[in-house]
Order: sequence, then structure tokens, then C-alpha cells
Amino acid sequence: MRNPRGTDPISRRAALATALLAAPAWSWSSSSSAWAWANAASSPRADRTSSATCTLDALLSRRRVVRRFSAEDVSDAQIERLVSVAKRAPSAGHTQPAAFVLVRDRATRLALAEAALGQSFVAEAPVVLVACADLDRSTGKYGERGEQYALIDVAFASMLLLLAVVEEGLGACFVGAFRDGEVAQLIGLPPRVQPVAVIPIGHPAEAPRPQRLRKTSAVLHRERWSDRLSPAPRLRARAAPARGALPSRDHARS
Ligand SMILES: Cc1cc2nc3c(=O)[nH]c(=O)nc-3n(C[C@H](O)[C@H](O)[C@H](O)COP(=O)(O)O)c2cc1C
Repeated sequence: MRNPRGTDPISRRAALATALLAAPAWSWSSSSSAWAWANAASSPRADRTSSATCTLDALLSRRRVVRRFSAEDVSDAQIERLVSVAKRAPSAGHTQPAAFVLVRDRATRLALAEAALGQSFVAEAPVVLVACADLDRSTGKYGERGEQYALIDVAFASMLLLLAVVEEGLGACFVGAFRDGEVAQLIGLPPRVQPVAVIPIGHPAEAPRPQRLRKTSAVLHRERWSDRLSPAPRLRARAAPARGALPSRDHARS
């Protein structure tokens, strides 16, 4: 992996892990104090677990969706580092169907924001990565089932990318609500390459607070599914969303 900082990547990561463990929580940010809230989200178990777990815990604590970006640019070297992390995700039969289209052009970013049901923050980021599934890489090996695997593989790759974004001191949002055909046309995708996510990336201009998470006891079913654990009546009562649209309020905000 290219490393413009002049150290080899393994020692860089080891140094980062050491720094994360040694540093006070408020200094975890690599770029700003915007993530100061992260200390509140870190696990009290952190000092009792292995260093690898601590590093993951710290990284996960700092990851939140970011929808406001400063005007500062994101370099090609940064994007290459993000994608080189993403491509390490597991894929069905190691078919590696995940690929990313990098968009810097302002007109295309605006059009992508429009295709994403008018989510204007998409165009406010200096770069947008469109995560794509090269379906034939999976269906060639697994037939029809491969289409599902390809989408899962792209989701895994995108998750790693979102974590790498945090490590870079950047912010991003995984946007799944968009009109597929419009996005595909804007970035010239062939018919068997499906857009899975539109991911605006930039320097964060907001520090979202930690999310409230469901209790582990409510999401861990033992031996068999238990309706008693996960009734979620409000979610179940909601009508199925239109294809490509997510009904959540925050997805429509600008
Ligand atoms: C499949 C998927 C689709 C999403 N689509 C959108 C979207 O269209 N617009 C948006 O603003 N956020 C979108 N998000 C981001 C989620 O709203 C966000 O991850 C969630 O609220 C949890 O917040 P967190 O990432 O900060 O933990 C999407 C996330 C996922 C996993």
C-alpha cells in the first residue's frame, strides 16, 4: 500500500494502536477535536480487553454518519488508502465483486444528489464514491444466488471503507436511497454492474452524537427467534417503502 507518510503501513497501524491506547480519549481524533464526544461512547470494558479489541472499540466509537463537510479537499492518496482497505473485505468464494467509482466533478455530484432523492449533502462533499457490485463476478460462480452475495460483499467492503474513513480523520455517509438507473447512467455503469451505495466523503463539519443502540439482550436470540425479545411494533406496522427509497426522516434532510 502506498504510504505518503514515510513509514511502513504495519508500523503505522501499530503506532496508531499504541497511541489510541495511551492517549486520553479526547485526543483520539487524527484531525480535529470534533470527535471529542467519542470518549463518552467508549466502552468501560476497554481497559480489560486485548489491545486489538481496544483499537476496534475506539474506532467504532468514533464512527458516526457525517452529512456536513468543510470545503477542504480529499486527496487521491487518501481515496486510494480507503479503497485499499475496502478491498480487504471478505467476499463469497473470493469473487471480489466490489468496485468504486470516484466522482469529483461538481456537476456530476449535484446530479448524484438529485438522483439520491434530493439529498443535497451528497454534493457538498468534495468527493463521492459510488460503491458498485460487478454482478457477473458472483453469478459466474454461484448463479442467481450470486446476485445476493455480490450485494453482501459490497456492503462488507463499504463497511471497511467507512472505518478507514474514520482512521483518515474524514467523515462519510452511506447513502442507499437513490434511483438506480439515474446513478448508473451518470457514472456510465454497464448493465451488469449495480450501484449499491453513494458515499459522499469529506472533512467533517459536524460531530454527531453517539447513537442509542438496542440492548444486546434484545438482539441476541438464543436457539430460536423470540418475538418477546424483538417485537418492534412501530417498525413492523410501517408500510414497505418504495423501491430505492428509505422512509427515515434523516434521509430526506439536507
Ligand atoms: C443500507 C443503508 C442505507 C442508508 N441510506 C441512507 C440515505 O439514503 N441517506 C442518509 O442520510 N443516510 C443513509 N444511511 C445512513 C443511516 O441513516 C445511518 O447509518 C444510521 O442512521 C445510523 O447512524 P450511524 O451510521 O451514525 O451509526 C443508510 C445506511 C444504510 C446501512
